[in-house]
Amino acid sequence: MTLDAAPTDAHLIERTRAGDQAAFEALVHRYEPLVLGYTRHLLEHDLEAEDVAQETFLKAFRELASLREIERFLPWLKAIAWRECRAWVRAKQSARAALQAARETRAHTPDLPTDPLLDDGEPDPWLARLERTMENMGEGRRAVLSLFYLDELPQEKIAAFLEIPVGTVKRRLFEGRRDVSAAAAPEPPADLPGRKRFVSAVKRLLAQPKQTLQTPPLSVRDRKASPSTQANKEHPMKIAVLSCIHGNLPALEAVVKELDAAKPDQVYCLGDVINYGTEPSACIGIVRERGWTVLQGNHEAFVLEPAMLDEFNPFARNCGFFTLGALSASDRAWIKTLPLTASAAGIQFVHGSPVKGKEVRQYLLSQEDMKAGFEAMTAPLCFVGHTHVPMAMYDEATPKVSKDAVQQIDPKVKTIVNVGAVGQPRDRDPRACWVLYDSATKTLEYRRTSYDTQEACRRIKDAGLPAKMGERLLTAV
Ligand SMILES: [Fe+2]
Repeated sequence: MTLDAAPTDAHLIERTRAGDQAAFEALVHRYEPLVLGYTRHLLEHDLEAEDVAQETFLKAFRELASLREIERFLPWLKAIAWRECRAWVRAKQSARAALQAARETRAHTPDLPTDPLLDDGEPDPWLARLERTMENMGEGRRAVLSLFYLDELPQEKIAAFLEIPVGTVKRRLFEGRRDVSAAAAPEPPADLPGRKRFVSAVKRLLAQPKQTLQTPPLSVRDRKASPSTQANKEHPMKIAVLSCIHGNLPALEAVVKELDAAKPDQVYCLGDVINYGTEPSACIGIVRERGWTVLQGNHEAFVLEPAMLDEFNPFARNCGFFTLGALSASDRAWIKTLPLTASAAGIQFVHGSPVKGKEVRQYLLSQEDMKAGFEAMTAPLCFVGHTHVPMAMYDEATPKVSKDAVQQIDPKVKTIVNVGAVGQPRDRDPRACWVLYDSATKTLEYRRTSYDTQEACRRIKDAGLPAKMGERLLTAV
């Protein structure tokens, strides 16, 4: 059968999966009017609808291998379009918040130097918004925008230059345009055509000596703790360690109250601040405002590498799409800065495992994995999270595990302490779990904090997230 003979969707999908791009183009040609009509209906904006429809097909192409029921291609495509529209609307909401912040900054900073582009007597709110957006969008996306708009390189050349797939270039272009468009709505003033004005603004921003432009971006795997997170404090400390807040604001707020009472010298958060719960951005706001040392977890990693969502179960993946739509540009920029590991005197911190290359992915549950963890340790004591099951693991001939609420750490025995989870415990105790460690007495204490689990569950259901993710908060299984 040829493509001209009106092939079925199933045939085109199979051909696409076999590497025939023309087959996917035929699918796009077939369903573009439907998808575009749907995105126009949801967004009520022609240009935005076209961009979202384009991204819908890009995502469908990338994820086509995961489509199990080929006959359900159209509802599957429609679901992608709906998620993309939702993400778009949330990005616009974030842009509005950024606009408000930019206006307030201008209003409270009367001595800002004049700028030929920004200041024609009055600050130009359109360019102020754009500047804010560009600053927050991250180096990777900004590099692609720059190469595409300023150097006018084709996407294939940009991909080769940056050593990333063409699909990533398309995605970053789309996301950059989306952020800029959201910040630029309503349309720019008529004194310059939109594109020329945008290019002028990009040139101006790129010409500024910014630290983020001088520092080459690190890959997720290469990113290490910054010097500021390697706090080599030699004096005895009371350290609080927590992990896996998972967007559960009621749980985090309850733990913060107890932390305020406990008054630790330092707080370490081992990642997974986001996903599953309904308030990832608010949780990020709290941990940032508190100045805790925060590491990257696998749920932050998927924001940097959305392909990781394929590794999640369907419930987690569904929540992941919600979370991606709920994060602000500022949240994303902050996530990019998170290190994989941190260290203090004689203590190592990591989300999942001290094994190099498996920091955010490996679960230390089996004896074999525990042994690998002990071997990889760079300090006698290591704190981890990730499994949501609190327990201390001791390096003995057969690794010993203890779940005692208070434990005495022996500095001569390598020990890995899993601190459990604040926002998603899985040890049949629904209370938020975290740890206090006194480096003077070497005493480890598991703390459990009650919070309103019914309220957290209700928020998850009300947000349309999988009910299971809320109900498990009640039973901690
Ligand atoms: Fe987690």
